Amino acid sequence: MLISAFELWGFASIVLVVQAVTVTVSPTASHPVPTTLWGQMFEDISHSGDGGLYAELLQNRAFQQVTPNTTAALNAWHSINGAALSVVADILPVSSALPNSLQVTIPAGSTGLVGVGNEGYFGIKVTAGSTYTASFHYRFAKASSFKGSFKVALQTAAGRSLVSTSVSITGETTKWQEVKVTLRPTISASSTANNFTVTLDSGSAASGQIVHFALFSLFPPTFKNRPNGMRVDIATTLAEMGPSFFRLPGGNNLEGQTVDQRWQWNATVGPLLNRPGRIGDWGYINTDGLGLMDYLNWCEDLGMQAIMAIWSGFALGGTSVAEADLGPYIQQAMDQINFVIGDSKKSAPAALRASLGHPDPYPLAYVEVGNEDFFAASTYTYRWHDFVTALQPKFPNIRFIATSDTFNPILSPNPQSWDQHNYNTPSWFAENSFFYDGFERNGTTYFEGEYAAISTNSSDIFGTPATGRLTFPTMQSASGEAAYMTGLERNADIVFSASYAPLLNHVTNSQWTPNLISFDAGNVYPSTSYYVQKLFSLNRGDEYLPSTLPVQNGTLFWSVVRKISTQQIIIKISNTVETAADLTFELPFRSVAKTGTAQILTGAANASNTPTTPNLVVPRNSTIATGKRFSYIAPGFSVSVLSFIAH
Ligand SMILES: *[C@@H]1O[C@H](CO)[C@@H](O)[C@H](O)[C@H]1NC(C)=O
Ligand SMILES: *[C@@H]1O[C@H](CO)[C@@H](O)[C@H](O)[C@H]1NC(C)=O
Ligand SMILES: *[C@@H]1O[C@H](CO)[C@@H](O)[C@H](O)[C@H]1NC(C)=O
Ligand SMILES: *[C@@H]1O[C@H](CO)[C@@H](O)[C@H](O)[C@H]1NC(C)=O
Ligand SMILES: *[C@@H]1O[C@H](CO)[C@@H](O)[C@H](O)[C@H]1NC(C)=O
Ligand SMILES: *[C@@H]1O[C@H](CO)[C@@H](O)[C@H](O)[C@H]1NC(C)=O
Ligand SMILES: *[C@@H]1O[C@H](CO)[C@@H](O)[C@H](O)[C@H]1NC(C)=O
Ligand SMILES: *[C@@H]1O[C@H](CO)[C@@H](O)[C@H](O)[C@H]1NC(C)=O
Repeated sequence: MLISAFELWGFASIVLVVQAVTVTVSPTASHPVPTTLWGQMFEDISHSGDGGLYAELLQNRAFQQVTPNTTAALNAWHSINGAALSVVADILPVSSALPNSLQVTIPAGSTGLVGVGNEGYFGIKVTAGSTYTASFHYRFAKASSFKGSFKVALQTAAGRSLVSTSVSITGETTKWQEVKVTLRPTISASSTANNFTVTLDSGSAASGQIVHFALFSLFPPTFKNRPNGMRVDIATTLAEMGPSFFRLPGGNNLEGQTVDQRWQWNATVGPLLNRPGRIGDWGYINTDGLGLMDYLNWCEDLGMQAIMAIWSGFALGGTSVAEADLGPYIQQAMDQINFVIGDSKKSAPAALRASLGHPDPYPLAYVEVGNEDFFAASTYTYRWHDFVTALQPKFPNIRFIATSDTFNPILSPNPQSWDQHNYNTPSWFAENSFFYDGFERNGTTYFEGEYAAISTNSSDIFGTPATGRLTFPTMQSASGEAAYMTGLERNADIVFSASYAPLLNHVTNSQWTPNLISFDAGNVYPSTSYYVQKLFSLNRGDEYLPSTLPVQNGTLFWSVVRKISTQQIIIKISNTVETAADLTFELPFRSVAKTGTAQILTGAANASNTPTTPNLVVPRNSTIATGKRFSYIAPGFSVSVLSFIAH
């Protein structure tokens, strides 16, 4: 079949055969590529924060937000050797934010080690040579002459000790005391089915004692050794993407099911004893151990900008705060922004930030007003108006991003930027790679804050795997996303940022599929889509070079950028079908290197990286012949990045 290619900028138009195409590249750039283009969207879903990026190993460590005296309150905890366990509303709570404690009763007449174990977030990885930092608070229910010791250990599910240490204690006071120990195993556990345990030796008169425990914690070494920091393997996988921004703290998980359950910045900063946690939006309790300042430090560690959301008066359960009642929520948003960028001499939230060790403001250029406010578009008109008119004059350098459907409803003041979300089929992404080409260039800019090819069934995008919903990204879904991303690069004069979602997924407790990076207690499994994101992110240009346009409803897509400092031309190509495609590039430049490199990600349509096939599809490098005119065969279902020097 013959189709004529679109002529873009004055070079001869070309007649080509399907899957054999000539692409002429202009040496003259049309627009700069914003440095913020590729980044990450984060929210705590599928244990991506608690049990994921946040390195804390103990689940339900502080009995936050549970109902005392229920079985559910004991989630992840287990009795050892007959200890009676109950979560109680403590009459002497360890802190006002943490009202509950774990009451452990050593049965009369018991012998041996008696106490509690925690199973972690679906396992605990125990690695020889790593230093684990464990801590907890305890108090005796009644003062006594008891003298003995706690044994703090990591052990296999079968009860074999991997490492342990003893701490001498007495029962003479009922006041809270803190234990802090380090554990350094000399052997690695063969699986992640391990427990953290704290036991008392009943031989030494512990029998009959009642001990209360609060705020346990167990950390492995963290990324850059930050206290309360990130899990090294997940953090490293994220860092290796070279992201330039981090959208936080959600997503739906910003919103709360009720107004009271919304994410509140001030409940997430300062000592862990002061963080009450909250009922998250994805079916589990959030510790808020990964709080606002932890996110900002993480951004600093990776050199990312924060794209930070403020709660905008709507809870996911369906409640919109009435306009007359918005005042305190607007104030809380103002405080949140001041915590990040305020002057510590002038603002109390900024002074709090300084007292927590960061006197200088963090960088902040973008603030999202809410999340997916198309769910409550009718009230967003006044909510957007009231938040933005109050905040914009106080923070003139911040761009506020609207989150309802683009241009619908019409908002006042007119948003400078919009956040667009797309979950669809691989072919939808390919077909929509020209989505932004027709947008007016008038100063309004766009953020693709969430996108992913999630189903192969266009009549059931949000269905189940049985009807085409993907469990893991495939080569077909990843190449569809890459096709769309070439369109984002071409439109980077108005699209300033884009991020795949969701970012992270604990495979043992998924709330959503597919995800960019899956993991379990032991390992990380980067997907085909992860490698696409990484290829785009690590192969950015400073400016976009126009080229012969792809066929709009075709299956082969490309974009071309230049890295000015190295004079590298970088061509990204997505072939979204099984048939290989033959591309010929014409480069009317002064000189073009004779060779370049190709980084190629390719595999079968349904090929996925999964826990059982973690490295099925990974990028491979090769040297290719280049020049003022050269050919390149893009394999079926592939994403290729070609780079070479040209002047
Ligand atoms: C805790 O639950 C048990 C069993 O349901 C009940 O007998 C007991 O009274 C409860 N205790 C408190 C303090 O609610
Ligand atoms: C250890 O963890 C396993 C789950 O991995 C759990 O079934 C078991 O009860 C736990 N034991 C202790 C003592 O915590
Ligand atoms: C956070 O601040 C709000 C007021 O903006 C207040 O109602 C709430 O109690 C605070 N939460 C914590 C945990 O300090
Ligand atoms: C830019 O164009 C869009 C679409 O026509 C419009 O909705 C938006 O308000 C315009 N922005 C500005 C700043 O005029
Ligand atoms: C696509 O989804 C529709 C609606 O759920 C369903 O009827 C149909 O069987 C699905 N097609 C495939 C191929 O699974
Ligand atoms: C692309 O669109 C044109 C015009 O609508 C149509 O004639 C052509 O058949 C389409 N090609 C494909 C591959 O769908
Ligand atoms: C992928 O598709 C091939 C061919 O249709 C099929 O044989 C294979 O079972 C599929 N694999 C998976 C993981 O779905
Ligand atoms: C492939 O080439 C890129 C760019 O030169 C380089 O960054 C990357 O490390 C290489 N990958 C492998 C697996 O050699």
